[in-house]
Amino acid sequence: MKAVRGTRDLLPPETELWNRIETTARQVFARYNFGEIRTPIFEDTALFARSVGEETDIVEKEMYTWEDGERFEKSLLISRWSLANRERFGTIEDNSPSGAVPIDLECEDLDGNFELVLFGAKPSKRSVDVLASAVSDKRALLTQLQSDKDVTGRHVFASPVPGVPEETTPEGVLLEAFHGNFFKSSQSLTLRPENTAGVVRAYIEHGLGESGQLQKLYYIGPQFRRERPQKGRYRQFWQIGAEVIGPPSSGSESPLRDAEVLEMLATLLEDLGIAGWTLELNSVGSAADRAKYNDVLRAALVDVAPKMCGDCQRRAVTNPLRVLDCKVPEDQPIIEGLPKIGDSLGDDSKQHFAQVTAALDTAGVPYTLNQRLVRGLDYYTRTTFEFTHGGLGAQNALLGGGRYDGLSEAIGGPKAPGIGFAMGLDRLVLTLQAQEATQAAAPAAKADAYIAPIGESLNAAALVLARELRRAGLRIELGDGSFRLKKSFEAADKTARRIVILGEDEHQSGILTVKDFISGKQTKVPRAELAANLARPAGE
Ligand code: HAM
Repeated sequence: MKAVRGTRDLLPPETELWNRIETTARQVFARYNFGEIRTPIFEDTALFARSVGEETDIVEKEMYTWEDGERFEKSLLISRWSLANRERFGTIEDNSPSGAVPIDLECEDLDGNFELVLFGAKPSKRSVDVLASAVSDKRALLTQLQSDKDVTGRHVFASPVPGVPEETTPEGVLLEAFHGNFFKSSQSLTLRPENTAGVVRAYIEHGLGESGQLQKLYYIGPQFRRERPQKGRYRQFWQIGAEVIGPPSSGSESPLRDAEVLEMLATLLEDLGIAGWTLELNSVGSAADRAKYNDVLRAALVDVAPKMCGDCQRRAVTNPLRVLDCKVPEDQPIIEGLPKIGDSLGDDSKQHFAQVTAALDTAGVPYTLNQRLVRGLDYYTRTTFEFTHGGLGAQNALLGGGRYDGLSEAIGGPKAPGIGFAMGLDRLVLTLQAQEATQAAAPAAKADAYIAPIGESLNAAALVLARELRRAGLRIELGDGSFRLKKSFEAADKTARRIVILGEDEHQSGILTVKDFISGKQTKVPRAELAANLARPAGE
């Protein structure tokens, strides 16, 4: 079996790079006083529909959604069956609430014969056995009472199709498939396609705004979108993201927050060693500005939409802003000719954006303005941005983000303006790998030493030595005493920079033989000096 399309395994030594990126990100977040948040991987589907937006590609096409926990409604099946069979019986006695009798109904027909009935989602061996034994108990009782009445057992289960004939099991139980839907689906759930909605949900649920403080939260974790897989685009991918959110009194709306987040990102990319990025910046205005721009776009699209793709034609009416997300090449010249959002911004939005760019200028963070950058999620207001990198090919966005001043209210929370971003960890890795490949391939990290016990009787001693060296902070690979010396050398050369030979002599004398694969030198090292010796760079 193989990993599902669009998902992949991350293996060493590549995982080392992933860890390095995550560690650097955590260090930078700590310097900017962010704390970590971990939200569940799946959430109520409605959360994403209401925040990311019903009309977006993500919600319309890319979510992994399922109906969770279909519940069998036994009481519904019992009541419907009883209603349908009322005429056959003089009495129908309901046992289910008592629980003492393992039979749901005891029915007595007009001739005084009994029918014991058990209900279930589907027929099971256990139910049939329970029923058969209840029938034989009842028969024994009637015989004792010298009654000539008969007893049957009936096992009724929910059937999605009508008209399935009755069957009799070898135990003499009647199996009846009763037609109808007796299942209730409890909830629609979705694997998170992004993390902002979950963070804001958590902010509301835990009353994080009540402290009056700005909340600065970061996350690292997998996200899921059913996109067409290609380089840099996966169905399970990883994001490192952060959100700054709080009540307006905490300063959450200040353009300084936007500038600080962007400056932090420039620092983070620098600390990661990623060079050559471009920050693209735009403002999509307040909710009112966006509504105005949507009207302007809708009017402009009336004439041109019929020449565009199906999605654009639909969105031209329902959510014209989303037309700007279209990737169909033939539609691009039309999109280029549409009115620009900058012309619909109100004075407040313009002023806010001017303060963001002024702060960036002062801080020396370079950016380019891009009026088409409206981002593919509906919650954005005012500042939006993306950091792109030329080395990534078609999927060139390293990270994206922006402000979402109305998101909390849209999902039933208090007013809590915010700004945040998420970076594609998979794409950071690709960028760094490409950079490292061009800067002369860095050899995969090797262990400091390989310990080769000579003979199986020295395995335990080798384990003790490995433990000692590992506790001294060294990276150690442990061989096996059953290997011939040649095999140990070959294995050691592949995985470590040195080999430490532990033969009977070495074990007795406490003087170990160490060979350095880079310098080719072989030396004798007293055990007490071994850790310090191995800690030196190889080749010296
Ligand atoms: P987004 O632009 O949808 O924004 O995703 C952010 C980043 O995640 C992208 O720039 C990209 O690097 C990465 N990414 C997205 N989809 C994939 C994929 N299929 N495969 C690999 N990487 C991918 C958001 O998710 C927003 N929640 C960002 C945000 C946070 N806005 C405000 N706060």
